[in-house]
Amino acid sequence: MAHFNKPAAGSWTEHYPELGTGPVDFTDSTDPAFYADELNAIFKKTWLNVGRVERLPRKGSYFTKELTGLNTSLILSRGTDEEIRAFHNVCRHRGNKLVWNDYPGDETEGTCRQFTCKYHAWRYSLEGELTFVQQEGEFFDLEKAEYGLATVRCEVWQGFIFVNLDPDAQPLADYLGTMLKGVEGYPFDEMTEVYSYRAEIGSNWKLFVDAFAEFYHAPILHMKQAVKGEADKLAGYGYEALHYEIDAPHSMISSWGGMAPPKDPSMVKPIERALRSGLFGPWDKPDIEGLDALPPGLNPARHKAWGIDEFEIFPNFSLLCWEPGWYITYHYWPVAVNKHLFEANLYFAPAKNARERLAQELAAVTFKEYALQDANTLEATQTMLESGVVTHFPIMDQEVLIRHLHVHAQKKVKEYRDANAAR
Ligand code: FES
Ligand SMILES: [Fe+2]
Repeated sequence: MAHFNKPAAGSWTEHYPELGTGPVDFTDSTDPAFYADELNAIFKKTWLNVGRVERLPRKGSYFTKELTGLNTSLILSRGTDEEIRAFHNVCRHRGNKLVWNDYPGDETEGTCRQFTCKYHAWRYSLEGELTFVQQEGEFFDLEKAEYGLATVRCEVWQGFIFVNLDPDAQPLADYLGTMLKGVEGYPFDEMTEVYSYRAEIGSNWKLFVDAFAEFYHAPILHMKQAVKGEADKLAGYGYEALHYEIDAPHSMISSWGGMAPPKDPSMVKPIERALRSGLFGPWDKPDIEGLDALPPGLNPARHKAWGIDEFEIFPNFSLLCWEPGWYITYHYWPVAVNKHLFEANLYFAPAKNARERLAQELAAVTFKEYALQDANTLEATQTMLESGVVTHFPIMDQEVLIRHLHVHAQKKVKEYRDANAAR
């Protein structure tokens, strides 16, 4: 059930009584045993986004995705039948990693007719069938049809490619649910200019989700990003989002921030005025279809000053649609209990001239500055959570998505442990 306005009485959190309102246990971000079970209970059973279809533009396009924390590497490919498939990146002969270039741990991409193993030249079609075996006659009763690549469930939603390591998982559309259905139709496929960042962060993956799942830290932590007068005003007002929603296991926050262009140019820095851009993106909307009539799930409060909607697609995929007509994705890939790989991709409609290009670049570098400030804080948080001195933390109403993430992750791990104990 959608709540499109904050009710007069009660709070966002009270709409979701299963979350409670007590302090939240954060040992889920420091306990190695919890981490190990979380990989099995969540990451190995859940739909995970591994990128966009634009990375597989034609028959024979492929890219690899390292899932380091999950102990595997995947090949994503577009077959001669145009179908997108996912395979474990392992040769069926003696287990060599099938697709890689100079360094086995580095991701790669390209176009090919077939995949050839570097070790003894076994070959596989784009559809994963074993097509060639070196000195085949010397093997014993080898049926090539039985030695295709190990497949991984793969489905596409709005151009986002998802995989699931659990062959029995429910279909992706069922997993994504009603709230995300409301985003369908947004012109993601028109926004093909990509700016990418990736960083290894010394914190549990959930802590970075937490840092993006509330915005009221912005006037404090990111105070120096704004011009002085504005920073003082923002910190003084306090922050209220327009809307929060949980459609378990997913959630969203909608925020104001109609700064493009700002009412008073002195509210922003000279470079933002010169390039007509800033944190909220280029001030001038791209000329593409689909931005005037937004899908019903965006700007659910229908607020005039709407700036951004952020969807937390459980467990590790954030999707942010910005009012000026562009989007960001974040991925948080667990590597260890206190380490994760963070990826951010900013997607714009292709720039038509140098001015538009510079506006995009300013948005990209401004974003990086904010993200670095967030990441620094997380590493400081992780070290002190690991002291174990304090384990439970009070979570306020506008941190409801954070409460939901931790409570839900703990619930999934508990269900997994209970099922194993019952076996
Ligand atoms: S391990 Fe791949 S061909 Fe031998
Ligand atoms: Fe932040």
